[in-house]
Amino acid sequence: MKILILQASPRKTGNTAWMAEEFRKAAEAAGHDVTVVDVSHKKIAGCLACEYCHTKGNGQCIQKDDMQELYPLMADAEALVLAAPIYYFALCAQIQAPIQRMYCVNAPAKVKKMALLMSSYSPGVYTGATAEFKDICNYWKVQDCGIVTAQLNEQKTDQTRQKIVDLVSRL
Ligand SMILES: Cc1cc2nc3c(=O)[nH]c(=O)nc-3n(C[C@H](O)[C@H](O)[C@H](O)COP(=O)(O)O)c2cc1C
Repeated sequence: MKILILQASPRKTGNTAWMAEEFRKAAEAAGHDVTVVDVSHKKIAGCLACEYCHTKGNGQCIQKDDMQELYPLMADAEALVLAAPIYYFALCAQIQAPIQRMYCVNAPAKVKKMALLMSSYSPGVYTGATAEFKDICNYWKVQDCGIVTAQLNEQKTDQTRQKIVDLVSRL
């Protein structure tokens, strides 16, 4: 299966990047074709709500930024993994922009399955992000394959690695 992982933490050796990397390793070991994009170091603006895409643009966004690299990857992916730290009880801004820029095509064409990896300092901060993820899965009519979270004392541990391996097996 073609899996696209959007890694959204700006900290390249941080906890979310570790989770994305563990997912990549487990998914490749299981025979999947995996692409990881570090969206936090891309220039991806928020949606302008200009409706160019739905009027004159024939599904193309009027903004020409690094989202141009991501659109073909999103169009090809069969599974999409979001990897994001929690900022102020929500998925960080760096993951929101690429999701919301999918407005021009509504949904990634071939994605049938999604998973979510989240990292935070505290426990109990995942309610909003979990609800958003589940709503997007419903809206895009894709299977929610599961969520792995890692608060401070769960970060970069064998237990979290095992949860990620188990999640890969549910794809
Ligand atoms: C701007 C900002 C906001 C944050 N907000 C929260 C929060 O609301 N709850 C929490 O538990 N941790 C919060 N954190 C901590 C991060 O979620 C946590 O350190 C996480 O592991 C960072 O992931 P990373 O190592 O992949 O960058 C925040 C960190 C930053 C920089």
